[in-house]
Amino acid sequence: MKHTYSLSAALAATFSLTLAQSAAPPTIPTCGVNNLCGKDTPCCSQYGQCGVGAYCLGGCDPRYSYDLQSCVAAPVCKSSDYKLTSLDDVQQNNVYLGDSSNTNWVSSGTPVVYNNQAVLLTMAPDTVGTLLMSTHYVWYGQISATMTTSQGAGVVTAFILMSDVHDEIDFEFVGVDLEHAQSNYYFQGITDYDNEQNLTVSNTVSNTHTYMVDWQPDALTWYIDGKAMRTKNRNETWNATTQQYHYPQSPSRVQLSLWPAGLSKNGQGTIDWSGGLVDWSSPYMQNGYYYASVSEVKVNCYNPPSGFANNNGNKAYYYDSTFGTNDTVCTGNNNTVLASFFATGDNMKEDPNASASASAKTSAATASATPQTVPGIAGGGNAGNAGSTTDTSSGSSGSGNNPGTNGDTGSGSNQGGGNTQFSQGVTQGSSSSQAAPGTKVTTGSAIALVGFFVACLML
Ligand SMILES: *[C@@H]1O[C@H](CO)[C@@H](O)[C@H](O)[C@H]1NC(C)=O
Ligand SMILES: *[C@@H]1O[C@H](CO)[C@@H](O)[C@H](O)[C@H]1NC(C)=O
Ligand SMILES: *[C@@H]1O[C@H](CO)[C@@H](O)[C@H](O)[C@H]1NC(C)=O
Ligand SMILES: *[C@@H]1O[C@H](CO)[C@@H](O)[C@H](O)[C@H]1NC(C)=O
Ligand SMILES: *[C@@H]1O[C@H](CO)[C@@H](O)[C@H](O)[C@H]1NC(C)=O
Ligand SMILES: *[C@@H]1O[C@H](CO)[C@@H](O)[C@H](O)[C@H]1NC(C)=O
Repeated sequence: MKHTYSLSAALAATFSLTLAQSAAPPTIPTCGVNNLCGKDTPCCSQYGQCGVGAYCLGGCDPRYSYDLQSCVAAPVCKSSDYKLTSLDDVQQNNVYLGDSSNTNWVSSGTPVVYNNQAVLLTMAPDTVGTLLMSTHYVWYGQISATMTTSQGAGVVTAFILMSDVHDEIDFEFVGVDLEHAQSNYYFQGITDYDNEQNLTVSNTVSNTHTYMVDWQPDALTWYIDGKAMRTKNRNETWNATTQQYHYPQSPSRVQLSLWPAGLSKNGQGTIDWSGGLVDWSSPYMQNGYYYASVSEVKVNCYNPPSGFANNNGNKAYYYDSTFGTNDTVCTGNNNTVLASFFATGDNMKEDPNASASASAKTSAATASATPQTVPGIAGGGNAGNAGSTTDTSSGSSGSGNNPGTNGDTGSGSNQGGGNTQFSQGVTQGSSSSQAAPGTKVTTGSAIALVGFFVACLML
């Protein structure tokens, strides 16, 4: 079956879903082709909206940001065996300011520790699920995740690599087909109808599998449990129209997610692909949420490709052109840490607390002109276009937003999975009026899962 939409676009749009408040929301500037962010909100998020702070960190798209310095340079690849058995190494995205030496993972949504054995990506009603992102980027390497998926119509589990210019390498799992992993790749978010291929695997919910991508400059191989399942050579991806290889070639973050593709606000193609609308009182939910489980991620970095000429240091990746292709990638010794959520790559030391008076800061924080600081918490509701856009960066203007959570950079906590901040900032697509707070996921409910998950993990 041919897709008429980009799955990455659907995912991004879903994660940018927000409340539609009855009060008129402030307009969030959008960004995309021929529509760069302005000086005051210079950073174009992966959801196609302009802001400061975390908008300038992971996912910041240099093609549509104010200038090439707006997006903060990205921490270089770090080979590691990440045991995801606690949240000690995970910071909520409203806390992380770019210090990858302190934390290897950033989350949005509600990750929950399961019995010191795995991290659960949870998806409760009125939320858009959970996203776990590496702070370090990978520019070619072997990347694996040991995990189980969720289950049910409209429920999608994903293990992907995603670059800031929307190159993408995917394992995706739709909750109505537990016998396949869908392998896919994108170059700069451009939909290519023939890129998807199903890989056969035994039940992805009841069996823990290790999914791996071996990403080399000239070839890409998807593995399951050590067995090569599919290879794509770069030389097979030549696009005669653009005169480019449509092959993933830019530094990418590792992302694990559980998200509701089956929301009525998503495009029909997305809903159909995922098996229909999400049932929010499904038997596949436990303790009030859908879940996928990840216990380990391994990253084995490759050296920069032969012929790499833009070596100006070894701390961070950046681009020297908005083309975003492999030959525009540079390494440097750039600082990657913002002074506050009001700083940007153009002004990394900006910190209202350090400079302005407390009263000025307070009024700035409540003014409607306050820039957005954390994408995905209060982004615009561009999900309605998920079925037609090929690149979320050129997506529609935002229409929904929850001012109550904007700029709140200090109250998040992911201890014990009790944080409901993200849940409160989003709502399921079927509800377009006032939003109820998301279902609270407590430490207690995670503990109650123990018996169930012991059974799963031992299979
Ligand atoms: C992969 O499987 C899904 C069903 O799970 C199907 O809808 C899709 O068409 C398949 N893709 C290919 C390329 O065969
Ligand atoms: C990174 O550092 C290089 C060399 O100093 C500089 O030219 C470039 O603009 C910096 N890029 C970013 C995004 O900070
Ligand atoms: C493409 O590259 C692969 C591996 O590098 C090579 O084996 C193959 O012959 C190449 N195919 C073409 C059409 O050049
Ligand atoms: C080539 O690239 C163009 C422009 O991005 C795209 O519309 C087209 O579908 C691509 N062609 C193929 C065969 O992938
Ligand atoms: C970039 O890709 C091209 C092929 O499109 C290749 O010839 C070149 O060596 C690559 N450069 C780097 C630095 O990887
Ligand atoms: C200023 O500092 C307070 C207390 O540390 C913190 O809660 C608040 O988020 C900071 N404001 C900004 C804009 O960083």
